[in-house]
Amino acid sequence: MADDASARARDGGEEDGGGAGTTTKSDKLVKREAEKAAKKAAKEAAKEAKAKAAAQRSRNAGGVVTVQCSTTPPVELDACSGTRDWYPEEFRLQRWLYEKFRETAKSTGFEEYDAPVLERQELYKRKAGEEITQQMYAFVDQDGVDVTLRPEMTPTLARMVLGRAASMMLPLKWFSIPQCWRFETTQRGRKREHYQWNMDIIGCKSVNAEVELLFAVCAFFKSIGITSADVGIKVNSRKVMASVLDSYGITDEKFAPVCVVMDKLDKIGADAVKEELELTQGLPAETANKIVDCLACKSVDELQALCGDGVDQSGIDELKRLFELAEDYGYGDWLIFDASVVRGLAYYTGIVFEGFDRAGELRAICGGGRYDKLLSLYGAVTEVPACGFGFGDCVIVELLKDKGLLPNIPKSVEFVVAAFNESMQGKAMKTASLIRAGGAEVDMLLEPKKKVANTFDYANRVGARYIVFVAPQEWENDMVRIKDLRADYTDKDEEKQIDVKISDLGRALEVLRAHEASVGAANKMGSMTVS
Ligand code: HAM
Repeated sequence: MADDASARARDGGEEDGGGAGTTTKSDKLVKREAEKAAKKAAKEAAKEAKAKAAAQRSRNAGGVVTVQCSTTPPVELDACSGTRDWYPEEFRLQRWLYEKFRETAKSTGFEEYDAPVLERQELYKRKAGEEITQQMYAFVDQDGVDVTLRPEMTPTLARMVLGRAASMMLPLKWFSIPQCWRFETTQRGRKREHYQWNMDIIGCKSVNAEVELLFAVCAFFKSIGITSADVGIKVNSRKVMASVLDSYGITDEKFAPVCVVMDKLDKIGADAVKEELELTQGLPAETANKIVDCLACKSVDELQALCGDGVDQSGIDELKRLFELAEDYGYGDWLIFDASVVRGLAYYTGIVFEGFDRAGELRAICGGGRYDKLLSLYGAVTEVPACGFGFGDCVIVELLKDKGLLPNIPKSVEFVVAAFNESMQGKAMKTASLIRAGGAEVDMLLEPKKKVANTFDYANRVGARYIVFVAPQEWENDMVRIKDLRADYTDKDEEKQIDVKISDLGRALEVLRAHEASVGAANKMGSMTVS
């Protein structure tokens, strides 16, 4: 009581006179609350610091070691410019993305292939002035062969198909996720090495092939949470553009190098494209103007109206059919016609397309098209129709980051096996081996911890679901104790663990799931009876 009274007095519990120069009751209350809050915060901060120090001590006691590195190491520790190291946390994300590529390709009936990253330079010797051929990591090997790290996969695919020409039943539907190397200026979404998901169909003349490929691209986007509001795919036809340019007097031979220049429209703008068409391709200013005007067309009909009879009707029909079939397939909303998309690679001959972010912040997400003449260039006696796309792993990650869609994939393992002490280590290893034989993932604690808390710390750090304790008492009874670290089916500690017979370790997961189901069901019944 006395305390209460003095506290009241101290805190201004009695009414103030309220005269000039005196503090009101509410001022005092506010001050007191603020002091209280500050005290509480200081107390919590001290508690947190103490807990951190304790955790650090326990880590030290648990033998957690970190690497110390000199501030002036004798070698450069960063990866080469434009290339990436894949630390486990980044690698987990990479695997997630590639699995999505893979699942999409497999769900559409494509088969996976691969090839060496080293190729002969001759595969890429094309005269159109493409950037890619100037960006190669090319060198002469010790046999005197001109080789290069592959800048793209399409020539390799063509080489492989022709390498077994006689036994290839067409159409082929193949996919791959190769690493490609281009000596580019590094920027957001563009590196000097990237992994490029490729899907190609060899041996199908009809536009149904492109429709199938575009289905896969859209299905992939959807599978990672990207919608048609985020991304679109611009579609055009080189066949149509060739006919238009032919009507402007540009011959077949000139067409590919002119496309390489037209492809720069997004990057360098209309005036620079006109200038380059005049300077490097020797086109009259009037023709260069006409070309740039026609690149601005935003519908097939507009292009047809602008270019009149000069337009290749079969190319227009293909484009129209592609848009119709995309509607039937249910992804029409992803596609738009864009006459400025001609792609920078010389070998495209028909429909071409490019994925872009609708916010307009990023470089092309993916790109592809039809390349009916490439295999003839490498020795096919008759024309082999082909089309496909390449989809890099850089821009898409930037887009996922921007949209907050990158998943958090923590480190995880099913079991940690921990020996009670060094003399039980052999038994613990036997335990690990028996559980692994049943197909489960097991991380063996390499040095037994003196304190059980350190074993828990370790298990949490590696993301384990279960700890298997191998201790003399249970072992004498042909058992090991398994603790579930993420048991959400019970609050009772004793129900979170179970002794499992050594002879049952090969089916440990099955035993644990049965335990979880029975405890979970019993607890559910219990809570229903109580309510
Ligand atoms: P591409 O347009 O040169 O086509 O590349 C395709 C995709 O690869 C680009 O849209 C982009 O996602 C990615 N990519 C290209 N260069 C880089 C880079 N330096 N850094 C990061 N990502 C990059 C081709 O390569 C064709 N071979 C695709 C193809 C397959 N056409 C038919 N089949």
